[in-house]
Amino acid sequence: MKYLKIIGNKNIEGEISISGAKNAALPLIACTILSKNKIAINNMPNVADINTFLRLIEKLGGTYEKNKDEVKISTLSIDKTTATYDIVKTMRASILVLGPLLARFGHCEVSLPGGCAIGQRPVDLHLKALEQMGAIIEIKNGYIQATAPQGLKGAKIVFDKVTVGGTENILMAAALAKGTTTIINAAKEPEIVQLCEVIASAGVKIEGIGTSKLIIEGTDKKLLEIQDFTVIPDRIEAGTYMCVGAITNTKLKINNVIPLHLEAIISKLEEMNFEIIQEENSVTVLPTDEIKPVNIITTEYPGFPTDMQAQFMALATQANGVSTIDERLFENRFMHVSELLRLGADIHLNGNIATINGKAGTLNGTDVMATDLRASSALVLAALVAQGETNIHRIYHLDRGYEDLEGKLSSIGVDVKRFNE
Ligand code: EPZ
Repeated sequence: MKYLKIIGNKNIEGEISISGAKNAALPLIACTILSKNKIAINNMPNVADINTFLRLIEKLGGTYEKNKDEVKISTLSIDKTTATYDIVKTMRASILVLGPLLARFGHCEVSLPGGCAIGQRPVDLHLKALEQMGAIIEIKNGYIQATAPQGLKGAKIVFDKVTVGGTENILMAAALAKGTTTIINAAKEPEIVQLCEVIASAGVKIEGIGTSKLIIEGTDKKLLEIQDFTVIPDRIEAGTYMCVGAITNTKLKINNVIPLHLEAIISKLEEMNFEIIQEENSVTVLPTDEIKPVNIITTEYPGFPTDMQAQFMALATQANGVSTIDERLFENRFMHVSELLRLGADIHLNGNIATINGKAGTLNGTDVMATDLRASSALVLAALVAQGETNIHRIYHLDRGYEDLEGKLSSIGVDVKRFNE
């Protein structure tokens, strides 16, 4: 296994360019299952989860060609409808093939995703909605067995909770269903908006894109003709690098972003006394004379993203005063706390609320363990301002969602190296 060694408190300066969004690209790859033509996808992030999803498409009988950040996918040749445990256990987003496979073939089997480090993460809302669309769902031997002998039909879906993955699965299923599907309390994330636009580019009528009410007119076509597209920039990767600039109190320009997608992150950084310059495709974090504490509640888009919670906790350890973070989406998303304590942070947990007693320059380098994707990025941030060297173990978590993290950090002066254990 590999680990990262970071020497803290190095002078940092420069610009970082953001890659395509992992959480947009994953459902978009699943969406290619609905298409009869080969699709060229540009700005595809080179991260482990994307490679896993492409392998899943291949296991189903599809093909893909990769050339730098362009991937051409063809799924006409798909002849299998089982997403097996070996793939699903490594990446729960595999559940996103359920809707498209069922809509296209009228049957499929998908290994039931187990819990993960950040929570139980059930998929009951996905299954309930598909049943409302006429699917018969059984759980057998750890697999979701779904059939729709008459094909899926449009339905009115009211999600009990806002679910990103659930909205994506039903959006894709509805595209080939007979009649109209209405999704109420749909997720509004930018990743959902892009999925809607890509499906709409194939002639599927979708009303309410970007709102919590989506109305999808299913087509009676067997398959869609999806146009080539470019993946939107990764707002969470961008937020993470904005925190690199903030925690090191450095002027840092982040390029290839959509500032609109970063509003909640920008507003919290401004509350912490940072000035953020926004330009058309970039944001620049300016140093401040005092990092102020902040109170954060994680919620669905456009509110403050849970995927930025850990990074802001690391930043709050350097603020002058007491911050609080209330994690409302996942019941177990504070695994980074014990590792930040190892670096010398002062954090108290009470259920899903963390209280951070911040003070600049109080962290000291040591060995820490990554536990999930975003928790590991918080450890990288803390290591940037910790005295001496920090070794971050189990960095395969990082590789799942951050493209070339060392290369990007080294390019702005961070002393970071990857080693084998
Ligand atoms: C997506 O996960 C993202 N993953 C997550 O990012 C992100 O944290 C999450 O949305 C919330 O923004 C991808 O896009 C691949 P949900 P998803 O369904 O779709 C509960 C990262 O770091 N729920 O919106 O799995 C669920 O347990 C990852 O990149 C049900 O109860 O999230 C959670 O508490 C981590 N039943 C809440 O809803 C269901 O059927 C939101 O989950 C579905 C969800």
